[in-house]
Amino acid sequence: MTSNKDYFVIEGLGGAKKLHGKISVSGSKNAVLPAMASAFLFDNPITITNIPDTEDVKRMAELIKGLKARISHKDKRTLTIDPRNAKKTILEREISKRFRASIILVGPVLARFGKVSFPHPGGCVIGARPIDLFLEGFQKMGATFFDNGEMFTLESKTGKLNGTEINFKLQSVTATETFMMAGILAQGTTVLRNVALEPEVTSVAEFLVSCGARISGIGTTTLTIEGGDLLTSTIETKYEVIPDRIEAGSFLILGALAASRLTIEKCVPEHLAIPIQILRETGAEIETGKNFIKIKSGENNSCSAISIRTHEYPGFPTDLQAPFTVFLTQSCGEGTVFETIFEGRLNYISDLVKMGADIKMWDAHHITIKGPVLLKGKEVEGPDIRAGIAFIMAGIIAEGQSIIRNAYFIDRGYEKIEKRLRKIGVNIRRVTS
Ligand code: EPU
Repeated sequence: MTSNKDYFVIEGLGGAKKLHGKISVSGSKNAVLPAMASAFLFDNPITITNIPDTEDVKRMAELIKGLKARISHKDKRTLTIDPRNAKKTILEREISKRFRASIILVGPVLARFGKVSFPHPGGCVIGARPIDLFLEGFQKMGATFFDNGEMFTLESKTGKLNGTEINFKLQSVTATETFMMAGILAQGTTVLRNVALEPEVTSVAEFLVSCGARISGIGTTTLTIEGGDLLTSTIETKYEVIPDRIEAGSFLILGALAASRLTIEKCVPEHLAIPIQILRETGAEIETGKNFIKIKSGENNSCSAISIRTHEYPGFPTDLQAPFTVFLTQSCGEGTVFETIFEGRLNYISDLVKMGADIKMWDAHHITIKGPVLLKGKEVEGPDIRAGIAFIMAGIIAEGQSIIRNAYFIDRGYEKIEKRLRKIGVNIRRVTS
């Protein structure tokens, strides 16, 4: 496991636009995690391919093994999860608290065994991140809820969940995945309204349908799930993790900032339609193909005000908000960022200001950024995965040396980032302690 003390050292380009070459996108963090959790819906092993080698995947594997399911690696990118001997229903506390996506296991485990215990999930410090939607939804499905101060326990006296109607008051990615999976093993029909439309949700839903799940409405905001028995996977029903659109988007923004020419390979440009359009409007030259994006940093950014507002898919992703703020520090004029999803996701601004960025924070959701400003290398520490990658990008364009503390956060979502960035011309090294 990466130590929390690992850090990156970057020698900045000082504004030069020199990055070039090809960079490949890994499998999606936010698709592989629910796909792994879905193993508990099966009566036989499932196989997942295109697995990213990231810390959150390792933590998820540890949790699944703790429930006594078996995990084996066929090769670096392929794993098989066999749920047949799984019997435990308590998610290991310390591991669960390290990443919020641990909550995705709760639905499949409760639906299979009629009981599950878990701590309040942890993860990035990007806001309150409540779990009310989960607790309310499971109670609607007939589970009782008990909190002993350290762990929550959900239990269904009959051993089964009941199909029900759940109207989400807001769109939640992991809540949608959770109740979609719980509905598959519930008795009767589950209707979910106002569900998330993120490609990760859709792709896992399609995988489950290919294994016999009866889910209709995929790709719309209402899902109807006919409950039934455990699913069966076949040799044809492997799940191939989709490319990580947030990783691709991070590389795209880096290209817009600092590339003479960069090709982002193994990605799905359609998943980034809005960020691509916005970057084009700023002057970046972008060409897209079926599974690649070529980008060249714009010569003259237009001085018109650029404004983004994060939004559920297909809107501008909150997970690209911090990288895009770094981009705005280099754009001519005054840009605005309105973070609508999380209330703690602008916490990293003070460190960008320390690097010389001209940013004014109006409230927990609004900032304005005046550019362009040549950033100065500094020592900073990202409070979450995406702020972490944003600091790496800031370090790359800055003048002088930057130290980015807490590499663990970046390793949670980006596989061996320093090795991949070095190949496109970034002077970055990891210091391991
Ligand atoms: N929310 C509630 N109650 C709940 C659940 C969510 O109020 O019970 C709120 C959240 O506080 C937030 C909003 O709903 O204001 C939407 O959050 P969502 O539940 O969709 O977030 P999530 O499912 O916890 C996933 C991704 C995040 C990504 C968000 C938004 C995974 C494992 N995580 O989180 O990814 O930012 O959706 O797109 O899929 C990341 O990759 O860096 C990351 C944080």
